[in-house]
Amino acid sequence: MPSAEERHPLLDRLDPDRIPQHVAITMDGNGRWAKQRSRPRVFGHKNGVEAVRASVRACRKAKVRFLTLYAFSTENWKRPEREVNALMELLVHSLRKETAELLENGVKIAVIGNVEKLPSVCRRELQEAMRITAANTDLTLTLALSYSGRWDILQAARAFAHQAATGALPADRIDAVLTEEAFGDLLSTHGIPDPELLVRTSGEHRISNYLLWQGAYSELYFTNTLWPDFREEDLYTALLDFQGRERRFGKTSEQIEVQ
Ligand code: FPP
Repeated sequence: MPSAEERHPLLDRLDPDRIPQHVAITMDGNGRWAKQRSRPRVFGHKNGVEAVRASVRACRKAKVRFLTLYAFSTENWKRPEREVNALMELLVHSLRKETAELLENGVKIAVIGNVEKLPSVCRRELQEAMRITAANTDLTLTLALSYSGRWDILQAARAFAHQAATGALPADRIDAVLTEEAFGDLLSTHGIPDPELLVRTSGEHRISNYLLWQGAYSELYFTNTLWPDFREEDLYTALLDFQGRERRFGKTSEQIEVQ
């Protein structure tokens, strides 16, 4: 992740006061990118790492505080074993290779998802990367691994049910205690603001079980660019598009104007 680089002109077109705090990306299109080159799918994943680097760099420069990447979904476990193993190896390799530079550049690594299901070498490497970068504050890079929005909501509901089942919470207090905020604290993303912007590459227009609760009011941005081709300027283009939107949160345009 080269830190000293020339400034992209699109960066200067961004309004620094309206940069989203949190951008979440569904990195899609690796397989198609590889197929276009008559190469195995894993070739696309490997080339996707450069797009991860570019996105981290762009978020740092634009002063986005949280970047969450959908790196492996709950459903991705259904892929051929060879591809799953290759993705896990790529994760371990990338963490080993990039963590020192992420540390130097103020990036904190975090993870969301059912990490218990990941191979132990992945868990160890993630733990180490999180430990090393824990004190960084510029950008939190969260990897969604073995993650799905439904899994997240379900694990939060289970955690709450366990609390309630201990008897510590009388039934007539449940409505008062289980607010949206309290439920949000039980989600794997607690401490991370909801993403204002959700980006998906490769021309697919789906949420695919990503951040279902957290993305309730996210602006959605779709690009035809396949993930391995995604670069800094693509991220800035998404941010510019975001800045052109009016976010009403259920209110009218007139109400927003007077605010
Ligand atoms: C989706 O493309 C991509 C994935 C399931 C994996 C994304 C992983 C990386 C970019 C590897 C590096 C990640 C980190 C965090 C080091 P697809 O395979 O569904 O593509 P397709 O829709 O064209 O088949």
